[in-house]
Formats: sequence, structure tokens, C-alpha cells
Amino acid sequence: MTRKRILSGMQPTGELHLGNYLGALKNWVNLQAEYDCFFCIVDQHAITVPYDQKALPKLVDDMAISYLAAGIDPSRATVFVQSAVPEHTELAWYLATVTQYGELGRMTQFKDKTEQAGSESGASAALFTYPVLMAADILVYKATHVPVGDDQTQHLELARNAAQRFNSRFKKGFFPEPAGLYSPTPRIMGLDGLKKMSKSIGNHIAMLEEPKPLWKKLSGAYTDPQRTTQDEPGRPELCNLYRMHTALTPAERLPVIAEQCRSASFGCGHCKRELETSLNAELEPVRARAKELRANPERLRQILGDGAATARAVAFETLREVRELMGIRGPTR
Ligand code: TYM
Repeated sequence: MTRKRILSGMQPTGELHLGNYLGALKNWVNLQAEYDCFFCIVDQHAITVPYDQKALPKLVDDMAISYLAAGIDPSRATVFVQSAVPEHTELAWYLATVTQYGELGRMTQFKDKTEQAGSESGASAALFTYPVLMAADILVYKATHVPVGDDQTQHLELARNAAQRFNSRFKKGFFPEPAGLYSPTPRIMGLDGLKKMSKSIGNHIAMLEEPKPLWKKLSGAYTDPQRTTQDEPGRPELCNLYRMHTALTPAERLPVIAEQCRSASFGCGHCKRELETSLNAELEPVRARAKELRANPERLRQILGDGAATARAVAFETLREVRELMGIRGPTR
């Protein structure tokens, strides 16, 4: 029996943070044993907003290093850069023909990003059609599952709609309807406690943060907004830091930490110190592997080259079938 297939990706827009790690990347690492995995660095998504073209190549390499350092194993998973497989953008065009304009207009991420930039009409057409390229990333490998944080749920729904419409128009059952796979912590809030952790807002702790700045940021993080003094009881189920504990701290400590919070027997500072220990225990090996990988650019080139070759072989075959189904001639030989 063929294994179920995963595809996921991240935008190389800067350093990965704990939201990316706990919401998605840690889950990818765990899923490698069970699924046939494709993990890409979506450089073509990163250019849908203003960006620095001189910085992009290094950001792509840094992202690959972060994937590998976190534990993505290139002997078990295919790791590659989106733009190394041009079939993604070709399929995106075909899928755009079965995607509705109104559907794209309802995407909250588009609304959020244009709001941040201050103008919807000035946004690039690429930002508007971003979810179609994401659908193509997934469907070009006929992936059945997509491990992401919960902010991608609406995009996944669009991918399923596109698959459904394509199938009913051209061939029943051709594309699987990809399901989301969520980690136990699908939404990590930022240090400000107001919005989800995000690079663009700067309310984050980086995955590769060194211990000193890590503590500096963690010690200032918001916890339960109702707990303004140490004597007031806290509500661990609403606290972002307790959520991180559930992903990182040994399970037998969790009821103890929760009780200390509820009974106000310890303050948030105490809880943060224990989270610091858990974070450093988890991330120290990741930081060490990242340093090793940075010192070996040849190895990185090779991993990404091999990954692109594997991915392309699959994507090539899907596009051959798609063109034939759609009556498109495609490249002739
Ligand atoms: P991106 O680059 O914004 O984020 C990468 C992954 O991290 C998750 N994430 C979070 N999870 C929990 N808490 C947070 N605060 C948090 N912030 C980010 C995201 O949900 C995501 O899983 N559109 C995608 C990239 C993409 C993609 C794809 C994903 C392009 N093509 C195909 C899956 C499949 C994005 O912008 O992710």
C-alpha cells in the first residue's frame, strides 16, 4: 500500500519563530515516520509583497538550514525550493481557472496583509492569487495531508474546493482533497499576548534564539491578562506560556505547573523559568545542528538539489496528466 503523502511549506521571510516551530515544524519532524513527506521553501510566495531581492537567496538557505536543524531528515523527506520546480506555477494557472474570484476576495490573510500595507487596490495580483499557488504546491504532489498552523485553514479549504471542481470538471478522483494536520499547539500567541506570534509584527522569539536574548524576551512575555499580581490565581488554560509548556515540558510536570498557577502559590516568573529550561533543552541541539549546517554549504546544495530532482519527477508526471485532461498541448519535443 502506498503511504499517505504530506506537503507543507514556509515562506523565507526571515527567522523562524516559536509559532512556526510549535505550530508546524515540530509536527513535520514527528510525521516523517508515518508519511511520504515533501517540504518546500516557498520563495515564490515570499515575493508577493515588497521584498529585498538581494537578501532572498540567503533567506532561502537559512530556511532550509532551519528545517534540517529542527530534525527534517533528507533521507526520509524531500526538501526543496518551490521555484526549483516550475510545475507549481504552471499548475497554479490551471487551478486559477477553477477558482472563483469571490472566493479569493474572502481570504482573511489577504485582507490582513493589505490592511497592514494600507491599501487593497495597490496590492499585487500575486498576493491576491497567493492561495491558488498554495493549492498548486499541494496538489502537484497529490498530497493527502497538509501539516500547518490554524491560520492556514481557510487556504486549505480553497485548495480542497479547487481539487473538487477540477475533479468534477475533468476527472473524478484525480486530485485528493487535502486535509489539514494540526499540532496540539496550532496557534501560538505573540509575546504581546494580543496577536498570533509573527515575524512581521516582531512579537516573537526566534527558534534559533540564543539563551540570553531568549530569556530577555520570555521574561517580558504576557501571560494570563487577568493575573496582574502574583497573588491572583491564574488560568493556565488561557495562558500562552502554559500552552508552550504542554508542547515542551515533561508531561508529569504539567499538572503541577497548572496547580501552581491556579492556586497562585508561584508567580509567572517561576513558570517562565521552567519554560526557559524546557525551551533550551529542546532548542540547544537545534542551534548546534544549525551551526554545523551553516559551516557546510556544499551539503546544503546537495540536499536541495536532490530534493528538487525527486520533487520534479513527481510534479512532471502530474502536469503531463493535467495538460492531457485539460486539452492543453504543453511543451512539445
Ligand atoms: P508561513 O510561512 O506564514 O508560516 C509557516 C507555518 O507556521 C505556522 N505558523 C504558526 N503556527 C502557530 N502559531 C503561530 N503563531 C504561527 N505562525 C505561523 C503556519 O500556519 C504555517 O504552517 N501560506 C503558508 C505557506 C505555504 C504553504 C504551502 C503551507 C505556501 N504553500 C503549501 C502549506 C502547504 C504560510 O504563509 O506560512
